[in-house]
Amino acid sequence: MKFQDKVVLVTGGGSGIGQAAALGFAREGATVVVAGRRREPLEQTVKLIEAEGGRATALTADVTSSAEVARLIGEIVERHGGLDVAVNNAGVLTSGQAGDIDEDDWARTIDTNLTGVMLSMKHEIAAMRERGGGVIVNVSSQIGAHKRLPGFGAYAASKAAVAALTRTAALEYIREGIRINVISPGPHDTPMSMRPGETEADRAERVKHQLPIGRVGTMDEITGAILWLASADAGFTVGHDLVVDGGSTL
Ligand SMILES: NC(=O)c1ccc[n+]([C@@H]2O[C@H](COP(=O)([O-])OP(=O)(O)OC[C@H]3O[C@@H](n4cnc5c(N)ncnc54)[C@H](OP(=O)(O)O)[C@@H]3O)[C@@H](O)[C@H]2O)c1
Repeated sequence: MKFQDKVVLVTGGGSGIGQAAALGFAREGATVVVAGRRREPLEQTVKLIEAEGGRATALTADVTSSAEVARLIGEIVERHGGLDVAVNNAGVLTSGQAGDIDEDDWARTIDTNLTGVMLSMKHEIAAMRERGGGVIVNVSSQIGAHKRLPGFGAYAASKAAVAALTRTAALEYIREGIRINVISPGPHDTPMSMRPGETEADRAERVKHQLPIGRVGTMDEITGAILWLASADAGFTVGHDLVVDGGSTL
C-alpha cells in the first residue's frame, strides 16, 4: 500500500492512461480524485474503483481554465484536507503539417497540453506548499520530447515544452519538498495511439515493424511507471524524464 491515505489527483482520469493510473493509485490505498471535462467517464472510473473497494471522487474541470483548476484544487483541499500527489495527464492529439496546421487545432493543443499543465502545477503547488510537500508527475510524450513524427508538430511542440517546464519547476520546488518529474510514453493501448481509420489489428501490424519491442505498451506498464515516479521509492528522482516506449527512441 504505497499510497495509503494519500490524496491523489489524476487529470484526464476518465479514460485511457488516466483511468488506469487512477485505478492503480486506488489499489495502493490512495483517495483518488479524477478530473476532466465530461462527468460520465469520470463517474465510470469512480465506479470501477469503488467496485474494488477503493475510494474515489469525480470532479469536472477544464484544465485550460485557471478559474476551473483553482476551483478543482480548492474542492480537493476542502473535501480531503490537502493534496499529496498530482498526475497531470489530460491531453489532446491533433495532426497537420507545419505549412497547414489548423490554427484552432494549434490553440487547443497548446492550451490543453501545455497551458493546462502549467495551470495545474500552479494551483497544485500552492496546495502542496500548504501541506509542506508533494509529488507531481506530468505526462509528456516520446513524440516531441524525444523524437519527431511528421504531421504532429503542434502536439510535439506542446509535449517538448511540458518536459522543459517540468524540469525547470523541479529545480524551483525541490527545496520545498515538492518533487516534480515527467513521463514520456511511447504508443500505448488507447485510441490515441491509433492513426485515423486504423483498427487495432492495423496498429498491431504497424508497431510490429516500427517499435523495437514489436507491440504497444499496456495500461499496467504505463501505470507501473507513473506510480513508481510518484512513490517514495523514487524519492531521489527529481526532474527526470522517464521514457516508457518499448525502445523506440533508441
Ligand atoms: N496513448 C498513447 O499512446 C500516448 C502516448 C504518449 C503520450 N500520451 C499522453 O498520455 C495522456 C493520456 O492519453 P490517453 O491515450 O489516455 O488519451 P485519452 O483517453 O484521450 O485521455 C485524455 C483525457 O484528457 C481529458 N482532457 C482532454 N482535454 C481536457 C481538458 N481541457 N481539461 C480536462 N481534461 C481534458 C479527456 O477527458 P474529457 O474529454 O472528458 O475532458 C480524457 O479523459 C495524454 O496527455 C497523451 O498526450 C498518450
